[in-house]
Amino acid sequence: MAEIVPSILSADIIELKSLLDEFKTSNIEWLHIDIMDGHFVPNLSFGPQIVESIKSSYRFLLDVHLMVTPPEDFIEPFRKAGSDLITVHIEATPHIHRTISYIKSLNCRAGIAINPGTPILLLKEIIEEVDLVLLMSVNPGFGGQVFIRNAIRRLNELKELCASLGVSPLIEVDGGVNGENIENLIDCGVDMLVIGSAITRSKDRKSRLLELDNMMKRRGQKIEEYNPNLKGR
Ligand code: DX5
Ligand code: ZN
Repeated sequence: MAEIVPSILSADIIELKSLLDEFKTSNIEWLHIDIMDGHFVPNLSFGPQIVESIKSSYRFLLDVHLMVTPPEDFIEPFRKAGSDLITVHIEATPHIHRTISYIKSLNCRAGIAINPGTPILLLKEIIEEVDLVLLMSVNPGFGGQVFIRNAIRRLNELKELCASLGVSPLIEVDGGVNGENIENLIDCGVDMLVIGSAITRSKDRKSRLLELDNMMKRRGQKIEEYNPNLKGR
């Protein structure tokens, strides 16, 4: 069954604690933290300190999405700060195999992210090394962008690639995810759905989160009823 992974990128920093408390009471397990350097993407966000601070007070699995170049320079500081999963972009380094191996050598889960304009097939040589593939459904850099419809076709292509290679990394979709596309994504077999502004910019965040979660569960159950083999995935 797919899970919601809230992103704090578009959160009002003054309210971060109450937002995280809401996630905690809503039984959220993973938290997505977007790291931007103003080079790989045209925006700046957080440094390792925010990861360290959240780690010291909460038990979320910290899913850290590095949108930085070169990613190798930032892996150790973010691991030391408490990241549980570090995802790097396939476009951000010519040495992706070395970079993924380095993340794993720090006893950390490793993910690979892919931009909307990068062919899915490029993942072929690295996919069996990773715990997670993060499929971008917007061009990275900002919260609140519109979901790129092509991501659905790319998600199907990614699932086919995994099946053909006999691998099953978690598949996470990130960018513009909301009530309009969640059901479609669930139908395509996504595991983790990063949701930023659809939650953080909502007036009643808790009910919005519950509403999205119920929508996902209902759809997931329908699929399981239709295909009992998927149960317990
Ligand atoms: C975009 C980030 C996303 C962002 C998603 O570059 O990687 O994680 O926070 O935010 P929404 O859901 O608002 O598109
Ligand atoms: Zn992200």
